[in-house]
Amino acid sequence: VANVLMMTVAAFMLWRTDWRLFASVVWLAPVLYGVNHYFRKRIGRQWQVVREWFTRVSTNLAENITGVRVVTAFNRQAINLDVFNDMQDRNTRNNIRAARLNGVYHPLLQLIGFTGKIVILAMGGYLIVSGRIGEDQGVGAVIASHLYWDWFMNPILNLGNFSNQLMMAMAGAERVFSLLDTQPETPDLPGARPLPPIQGHVQFENVTFGYFPDRPVLHDINFEARPGEVVALVGHTGSGKSSIISLIARFYQPQKGRIRVDGIDIRAVTAESLHRQTGLVLQVNYLFTGTVMDNIRYARRDASDADVIAAARAIGSHDAILSLQNGYQTEVGERGANMSLGQRQLICFTRAFLANPRIFMLDEATSAVDTETELLVQRSLSRLMEGRTTFIVAHRLSTILKADCILMIDAGRIIERGSHSELMKLNGKYAALYEQFVQQAA
Ligand SMILES: Nc1ncnc2c1ncn2[C@@H]1O[C@H](COP(=O)(O)OP(=O)(O)O)[C@@H](O)[C@H]1O
Ligand SMILES: [Mg+2]
Repeated sequence: VANVLMMTVAAFMLWRTDWRLFASVVWLAPVLYGVNHYFRKRIGRQWQVVREWFTRVSTNLAENITGVRVVTAFNRQAINLDVFNDMQDRNTRNNIRAARLNGVYHPLLQLIGFTGKIVILAMGGYLIVSGRIGEDQGVGAVIASHLYWDWFMNPILNLGNFSNQLMMAMAGAERVFSLLDTQPETPDLPGARPLPPIQGHVQFENVTFGYFPDRPVLHDINFEARPGEVVALVGHTGSGKSSIISLIARFYQPQKGRIRVDGIDIRAVTAESLHRQTGLVLQVNYLFTGTVMDNIRYARRDASDADVIAAARAIGSHDAILSLQNGYQTEVGERGANMSLGQRQLICFTRAFLANPRIFMLDEATSAVDTETELLVQRSLSRLMEGRTTFIVAHRLSTILKADCILMIDAGRIIERGSHSELMKLNGKYAALYEQFVQQAA
């Protein structure tokens, strides 16, 4: 509005100064209007597309970074990279198209502004030379008109300047891309071989590990899980439960000792073959943008719709999924925001079930699932655990009670181990923690 006012005032002043000068440039106004109309609509639309795709790219990127564990655990790196690269290509092309439009529009505006100045000068010169305007006031009039024309054009030239926004968007993108260089997993050793089909026998042998080598968070960990056994990891926050899970998934490697799966040191195998046979459900129930169907299929792209539905039926999540707004075609928002915690967990369980790993790991948040779906979640979890070696950081008593072995972790050490009844008899730290649990549940 301020721009329009300024332009009107400038035009009026130009007209007042000398109507002939005004008339000499007034024909440029419709040209200007036409150019503006043509380009602004197109550029506006193109910027809309650029912004949309930029949002898509950054959402995708954000999901892959925050969900990197899930991406890695399900061997989705290559596919996701393809998807991302496609998006990024689109994004680049969109930006080029916008830049090209801008590259024509802006100089064109400048050309019009320049033309106006020349016309005023030429017309002014002619008026003065031909004596139609007195020389004494004529020069002043021409200079003033020149100025007013500048005033008239400036708001339009400024409006046309989108390139700053473009630079800003690019700067943001660059910062994000530097994140991509961070290594999300332990790379394969040279000569790493694929892990043959496993039973699910897991051994920790004198494992010492720290995120920083000089600050170990796990000290000399030894335990064994036979195929099909359920191991519950119990302990206070920060004791090292999640770190143990991360080591099994080989997101990190121990500084001392080794971890063996079916007798094979997991350092010697390819991450891809290990992740194909392990399944991980995380504290943050990670769902990606897309339909419920896509999310379940995440780990096994070749699975048909029928396979997905069969898995959901088998694990008991089918009805819960059907009760969603659009059933299997329900769109999951960023990080699955539009669903309840229990619903998201069910979908994650179904995803893990479809992947059918020999080793299943669950690292669960303390926060309780909604009571509505709690029973359903518990039942699907039992079905998911059936016949798999399971490591579980759980906060449900029912799950812990069912474990074949409970490892009580304290400050990075296993301080007690055994079944629930054994540990209760011991009457140590676990028994105390259990009392606390029961009291909280009551
Ligand atoms: N990515 C990380 N980088 C550095 N330190 C970490 C990281 N993750 C966890 N830790 C530290 O390691 C210790 C064990 O953490 P964690 O295994 O997450 O415990 P828990 O799962 O039992 O709460 C804590 O002291 C924690 O601060
Ligand atoms: Mg944890």
